[in-house]
Amino acid sequence: MITHITTAAKFSKEDIKAIFSLSEKIKSQKFNKKLLAGKVMATLFYEPSTRTRLSFESAMIRLGGSVISTENASEFSSAVKGETLEDTIRIVHSYADVIVLRHFSKGASEIASKISAVPIVNAGDGAGEHPTQALLDLFTICENKNINGLKIAMVGDLKFGRTIHSLLKLLSLYKDVEVKLVAPNLLGLPSSLKLELSQKGLHLEESENLKDSLFRSDVLYMTRVQKERFTSEKEYKKYFGKYILTKELARKMKKDAIIMHPLPRVNEIAPEVDKDPRAFYFMQAKNGLFVRMALLSWIFHKS
Ligand code: CP
Repeated sequence: MITHITTAAKFSKEDIKAIFSLSEKIKSQKFNKKLLAGKVMATLFYEPSTRTRLSFESAMIRLGGSVISTENASEFSSAVKGETLEDTIRIVHSYADVIVLRHFSKGASEIASKISAVPIVNAGDGAGEHPTQALLDLFTICENKNINGLKIAMVGDLKFGRTIHSLLKLLSLYKDVEVKLVAPNLLGLPSSLKLELSQKGLHLEESENLKDSLFRSDVLYMTRVQKERFTSEKEYKKYFGKYILTKELARKMKKDAIIMHPLPRVNEIAPEVDKDPRAFYFMQAKNGLFVRMALLSWIFHKS
């Protein structure tokens, strides 16, 4: 059976346990450097990326595999000539053993998974999901906090923020997790997702106020306003800069809280906060390499 990773909802608690156990071994350098020798990974990115593409490529190379890549598929692949995503997948799956796909359309990786004879990994599909980011986020949380009973504040553009959508799906697997959703009214979490999560037992509370959401949180997860999803600059500017974590605001947080951000940041976390021992966003990005190495190993082991 082919293991496609199109949504975070595909992961069970047992899957996550297995992937995190591998991630820990890899992080402490205990892994087979030839594990994926002979395997080829294609990275097909229709939207820009620093972390996701480079950490996946580094992960594959560190496991002994090889990489073929188009970093700007919208411009440098035959999409320019009018080739559909479906036809591109029909070609690329003959050249690679796994395809890591970032696309501007929600649902693109689901479409690709119906066609592909090799695993499809969703590396971000428009305003949909980013399941591998959610895995590395959860790994970072679990390294530092007890997941059961966790209080987390998620701040920013919760409507278009795909990392939030996927992380919430993973959090819904655990007991007594309380989530404070902090967003402007019109950038709140889509109601269909809210319903799905509530039905799974995740405790959600909504607020527009960042200051009031800091005191009780074990994790503060900041996100940027997703400029690329807005139809006008004017509309985007209404929200830009609404939530900024400064040193002064960070003083209101719990002493043992952790500050996270999927990155890139624009201005949501002032650079002065970087020296705060609670700032975990760069470690979070670094964990992306270990978790993606573990995920690739797991996918090939299962497929
Ligand atoms: N967090 C994340 O997806 O970063 P990139 O867009 O740089 O891949």
